[in-house]
Amino acid sequence: MIKAVTGTKDILPSEINRWYYLENIIKEVFSVFNYKEIRTPIFEETSLFARGIGEETDIVSKEMYTFSDRSETSLTLKPEMTAGVVRAYIEHSLGTLQPLTKLFYISPMFRQERPQAGRFRQFHQFGAEAIGSTSPLLDAEIIQMSYHILKQLGLKDLTVKINSLGVPVSRENYKKILKEFLQDKKNKLSEDSRKRFDTNILRIFDSKVESDQNILKDAPLLINYLDEESKNDFEVVKEFLIRIGIPFEIDAALVRGLDYYTKTTFEIISKKVGSQSALCGGGRYDLLIEELGGKPTPGVGVAAGMERILLACENENSFSTPDQFIDVYIVRIDKELELEVSEIASRLRRKNLIVDCDYLSRSVKAQMREANKLNAKFVLIMGGDEYKNGDVQLKNMSDGEQKTIKTEKIVEIILAAKEQSHK
Ligand code: HAM
Repeated sequence: MIKAVTGTKDILPSEINRWYYLENIIKEVFSVFNYKEIRTPIFEETSLFARGIGEETDIVSKEMYTFSDRSETSLTLKPEMTAGVVRAYIEHSLGTLQPLTKLFYISPMFRQERPQAGRFRQFHQFGAEAIGSTSPLLDAEIIQMSYHILKQLGLKDLTVKINSLGVPVSRENYKKILKEFLQDKKNKLSEDSRKRFDTNILRIFDSKVESDQNILKDAPLLINYLDEESKNDFEVVKEFLIRIGIPFEIDAALVRGLDYYTKTTFEIISKKVGSQSALCGGGRYDLLIEELGGKPTPGVGVAAGMERILLACENENSFSTPDQFIDVYIVRIDKELELEVSEIASRLRRKNLIVDCDYLSRSVKAQMREANKLNAKFVLIMGGDEYKNGDVQLKNMSDGEQKTIKTEKIVEIILAAKEQSHK
C-alpha cells in the first residue's frame, strides 16, 4: 500500500474545523491591522532562495526540495515565504502603488528536515510582511499581531523573545570580536559549531550541544556592540511592547536561521510542544529587497508554524470547535421515492440548509442511524400512503418530537423550526 511521504500529513475532515478556526482568526487579526492577502506559487527558481535566505543556512544547504524541470531549470518548493513575497513585490512594483505595502499569507512550505513532533517536511505557515518603512513601530506591530493571534486562540503559556542583530557594519565588527573570543576554544566546539565558526559564526548560538553552550556562556554578545540606530530602534520596540502590555524577554542568543535579518529579531515560544517550541519567528530585513534586485527598501515580517500552533492549542486545550452537524437528513421509506427525495434535498439546500440523504439503498433503520451519526437537527421521513396523500413526517432530533406536515410546506416549516431552535 502506498502511504503518505515521511514528514507529510493528511488533514482529515475530523480535524478541519480546527484549521478553519485558526484561519479565521488569522484573517480577522491581519485585516484589523490592514494587511492584504498575497498568494505566490508553490515553487520558485532555486536562485531566489539561495540569494534570499543565504547559501550557508541549513535551509538552503540541507533542506530544500530542489529539482530540475524538463527544460533543465532548477526549481525549489518554497521553504519559506519571505523571499517569494519580496520577489512578487519587486516584479509587480507593489511599492509604487503604496509606499508601505502590508501583506499576509497562509501557505504550505517544504523543508527536508528530520520529522518529529511539531516538525514536518510539508507544513503550513501563516505570516505577514510589511515592506517600505524603517519604523521600529512596525517591528512592534508584527510582534503584536503574532501575539494577538496566539492569545485569541486561547494560548497561555507563551514567551516572547526579542533581540537585535544590528546593521551589517556593527554585526561584522562583532563577528570579529566573537571569532577572537572563540579562537582558542575552537577545538572544544562540536563539529557543527566548528564548521559554523568558518561559515556563519553567529549560528553557533543556535547549538543545543551542552559543551558549546558552556563555552558560549562567557561569550561577548552582539546586543552590547550595536550601532546607535539599532540601539535606538530596539528601545522603541521595547517601549511600545511595554505600553501595550506584551511581556517579553531579551534573548541575546536569538540569531535565527535565515541570513536576511537586520536589527530586530523575535520568536514566540510555547513550552507545551516539546523541543520544537518556536510557534513563530521573524524580524527586520532591510537589505533583502536590494539583494533580490529591487530598489533599497526596508521590510519586516513574521511566519508561524500552523501545525505547531494547533499542537500547542491541543496540549493546552485552549479552544474547542462546535460539533459537526447537518440541518436535515431525509429518510426514504420507499425506494421509488429517490428522485423526490433528491428534489426536496435540493430545494432545502437552495435555502442554505445542510442536507443529506441516502444514496446506498439502506434500510430505514440504517438511514436513521446515519442521521444520528451525522448529528442531524431534523429528520424528514418520506414514504408510504402518507406521502401519496401529500404528507411527510418531521422529527426534531433535539426533543424527539415528531409531527405530520404537508409536503409543499417542507421548506417553510423547516426554516421556521430552525429559526425557533436558535432562540
Ligand atoms: P522560520 O523561523 O524558518 O522563519 O519559520 C517560522 C516558523 O515556521 C517556525 O517558528 C515554526 O513554527 C514553523 N516551522 C519552520 N519549520 C518547520 C517545520 N519543518 N515543521 C513545522 N513547522 C515549521 C521563516 O520562515 C521566515 N520566513 C519568517 C519571516 C517572515 N521573517 C521575516 N518575515
